[in-house]
Amino acid sequence: MREFAERTGIEVDLSLHLGRPLPKELETVVYRVVQEALTNVARHSGSARASVGVVELMGEVRVFVEDEGKGFAPQEVAPDRQGLQGMRERVELVGGRLLVESAPGEGTRVQARLPLEGGA
Ligand SMILES: Nc1ncnc2c1ncn2[C@@H]1O[C@H](COP(=O)(O)OP(=O)(O)OP(=O)(O)O)[C@@H](O)[C@H]1O
Ligand SMILES: [Mg+2]
Repeated sequence: MREFAERTGIEVDLSLHLGRPLPKELETVVYRVVQEALTNVARHSGSARASVGVVELMGEVRVFVEDEGKGFAPQEVAPDRQGLQGMRERVELVGGRLLVESAPGEGTRVQARLPLEGGA
């Protein structure tokens, strides 16, 4: 993630709170969500900073990527855009949910909630 930040020039504030290593399958999903969301910050937000968190909470892994850039209207994204849609598909394949909170002028928060096997 540090390498990624260097490549894009985005300054990333990373907060990791995991009690144990993630199953390989989830690790890949987490990595892809962070990668795509940070690419979007770099390309679309107009902001040079983002916060990334990976937290284990109540039997789930929660991943968030947020910026204080220009935001957008999630319900108006053109259907040919693949990034957020692809993220959602990967997250849903492991039984999780993707939440995208944004509005023009209000920054963006992308959150994935991924169930851990065996629960809390
Ligand atoms: N962090 C962000 N800040 C501002 N706008 C965003 C952000 N993330 C996404 N968007 C908006 O949502 C749209 C859809 O994002 P999505 O990742 O699905 O597609 P994309 O980045 O345009 O193309 P790609 O398919 O290459 O990812 C973007 O075109 C952009 O308008
Ligand atoms: Mg994208």
